[in-house]
Amino acid sequence: VSVTFIRASGERINAKGKVGDNLLDVIVNNNIDLDGFGACEGTLTCSTCHLIFKPADYERLPDKPGDEELDMLDLAYDLTDTSRLGCQVILTKEMDGLEVTVPATVNDARSA
Ligand code: FES
Repeated sequence: VSVTFIRASGERINAKGKVGDNLLDVIVNNNIDLDGFGACEGTLTCSTCHLIFKPADYERLPDKPGDEELDMLDLAYDLTDTSRLGCQVILTKEMDGLEVTVPATVNDARSA
């Protein structure tokens, strides 16, 4: 499953993941250097894995965010209607070619 992460700078990072990986796994496994991303390692106690989906992709995601995820997202900078926490989004075959935006403020969030 190929996933493209788009940095706020516009830089596009192509990555590969397996069905069943979450988007945090994809970033870690592809050694993508996103400073501060995924601080809690997927335990739903941070909001640094915030990713912004295109509306059509967001609608296609197999599951909706749970209450805990929504609570954490409330703390995220630059929250949008199509935001998710990357560690909670599990790849499916249908998601091949997905493009997600990494909010600029991931770095700011860490140094804050
Ligand atoms: S890595 Fe912390 S909530 Fe996803």
